[in-house]
Amino acid sequence: MDRRQFITTSTAALIAAGMPTLAFAAGGPIRIIFDTDPGTDDAMGILLALRSPELKIEAITPVAGNVPLEHTLPNALALLELAGRTDIPVAAGASVPLTRTLVTAAYVHGENGLGGAQLPPPKTRPVAETASEIIRRIVRQNPGQITIVAVGPLTNVATALRADPAIAAMVKAIAIMGGSLSGGNVTPAAEFNFYVDPEAARIVFDSGIPLTMVGLDVTRKALFRDEHLKALQAVNTPVCRFAADMMKRTLDRFHEDSQAHRAVAMHDPLTVANLIDPGILTLQDYFVEIETEGELTAGESVGYPGRWRKSAPLAPTPGSIADTTPFKSNAKVAMGVNVDRFFNLLMSRLTAA
Ligand code: RIB
Ligand code: CA
Repeated sequence: MDRRQFITTSTAALIAAGMPTLAFAAGGPIRIIFDTDPGTDDAMGILLALRSPELKIEAITPVAGNVPLEHTLPNALALLELAGRTDIPVAAGASVPLTRTLVTAAYVHGENGLGGAQLPPPKTRPVAETASEIIRRIVRQNPGQITIVAVGPLTNVATALRADPAIAAMVKAIAIMGGSLSGGNVTPAAEFNFYVDPEAARIVFDSGIPLTMVGLDVTRKALFRDEHLKALQAVNTPVCRFAADMMKRTLDRFHEDSQAHRAVAMHDPLTVANLIDPGILTLQDYFVEIETEGELTAGESVGYPGRWRKSAPLAPTPGSIADTTPFKSNAKVAMGVNVDRFFNLLMSRLTAA
């Protein structure tokens, strides 16, 4: 057994036993800023992050996406109150994309963004800083130490990069839920987060920051089903009671599995889980560019595993198929997923005492 096999095997064993993973033991918690549009799967991802000692959430920065900011902001505040973590600052982000009209997904997440499940209206308030300001401040105060977990449209992250381009060299990494190399979920080309704000996604993918793209290629396979719902319903804690209510409502109303089974893709929790246990996803180096001009394809994440080229030139500029650009990866794209290992982690952390 080589070192990687040892770590992978040991990590799985620790998780199965409900223990922190080796990543935590190795060098302390991964410090993150959680950028999100809660959103039912966002909420599951936030609860997973809050219940995992491998991660330290420095701030939560809600953005408009699944539902308008008027819901994603209070949802983030209410989730922290549910988890008893009002020590974590919440900074309001963008209510609209950089240039386009906001398109939401209430048909998936319910009008309130939590599938219709109710949390008490939050007593806590967001901080005075905007999302962009708190991202820039925390990254500048901790150069090379902050990982941004971005599971909504990338408007906040792009806004911070445009306001302060120098932080691109200071952000340790960005773990992105978004994109797809195997077709979209809003149009045939575009995944929702990149569909909502293609311009923001392009800024992030052109930033030079180390990126992990967790797209529909793997998240479509991480399907929450009735067996997982029953596991949540069996645990009488405030977090599990809420999560069970939210997911039951979502299963009852909406299912993503192509066979129309009762199944809900765990897009955002999978992105979080891979930080906790890197053995869950298999990553491959790609050059990814975001389409921003397509009338039909805006928001598409176009991935090149090697030399790349743009579309054929318009007249009169003669070009030849030989016009290609050498390969230089800008993202590690998730191409494989250990679904059982993911749900072992997710369910053990949510149901732990
Ligand atoms: O396409 C899925 C992504 O869009 C998830 O992050 C979901 O929460 C929505 O934001
Ligand atoms: Ca999301």
